Amino acid sequence: NPVANLACLLPKAELHLHIEGTLEPELAFRLAARHGVSLPYADVEALRAAYDFSDLQSFLDLYYAGANVLRTEADFYDLTHAYLARAHADNLRHVEIFFDPQTHTERGVAFEEVLGGIRRALLEAEREWGISFKVIMSFLRHLSEADALATLEEARPHLHRIDGIGLDSSEMGHPPSKFARVFAECRELGLPVVAHAGEEGPPEYIEEALDLLRVKRIDHGVRALESEALMQRLVDEQIPLTVCPLSNVKLKVYDDMSMHSLRKMLARGVKVTINSDDPAYFGGYVNANFVACVESLGLTEAEVIKLARNSIEASWLDSARRDALL
Ligand code: ADE
Ligand code: ZN
Repeated sequence: NPVANLACLLPKAELHLHIEGTLEPELAFRLAARHGVSLPYADVEALRAAYDFSDLQSFLDLYYAGANVLRTEADFYDLTHAYLARAHADNLRHVEIFFDPQTHTERGVAFEEVLGGIRRALLEAEREWGISFKVIMSFLRHLSEADALATLEEARPHLHRIDGIGLDSSEMGHPPSKFARVFAECRELGLPVVAHAGEEGPPEYIEEALDLLRVKRIDHGVRALESEALMQRLVDEQIPLTVCPLSNVKLKVYDDMSMHSLRKMLARGVKVTINSDDPAYFGGYVNANFVACVESLGLTEAEVIKLARNSIEASWLDSARRDALL
């Protein structure tokens, strides 16, 4: 398919990627062996076979369990390096990646080991492959706001190496309003903020993210389609959505890729981007997401060019680097 080939070759940015979600089964077993811990699966095939999810929570249970093999700076370096090799192969020129400190500090892993390992791999990929980057610290929304505030305190000595703030984990029952104060504090520190909203949650959660958290982008946001007023606002204000098509199908937001609303939203004038979310768990990196959309939705050449451009325009790059990539 020539459109799919074009999509793969275009320079792109990825704006919605959880580094913990890039842990491939092969690396999980290698890290388990490194630390002398056993995984509750016989082998790589058995672990991969467990990646059969019914909703967001069924995925998160496995994702947090998998993170248990990530313990040292070297582990986070290896994880991030492996992702960046895939990013380079997919012609990504810029990445903005989430990390979830609470998943690790709760287990006794030092904040510095996590951030240091991730950044060492990012700096190396910038030198070797010219991939620029931003690092987004995400709060886990199933935990309390007090927990998020404590995490922000713990992050204070590292804030010069953190480019923004995100909000992820179990959406239903944990609306953005729960984090209004901690996000206000982050904004006062000069940090741009984003939030997952409208993945499983209702359009009202997207509105809360915009009005109460003052986010620069919405992560997912696909349920915006249920509110015409919200759709109009997304178009008028050109608020980017970081959509993750394979993730949405794997987590049963849509029964099938042919049902995905991405093309409809793009046609409506929403600033949609394509991202991989947790590629080790959802069956593919950025190019695989583009290919699946081209094949199932019939995206045109003009549409894939628009989607690739959107990814650069919706990034937090300065205008010089942005213009160089466009
Ligand atoms: N953490 C990792 N991936 C996520 C997703 N798709 N939604 C919410 N939290 C997440
Ligand atoms: Zn996500």
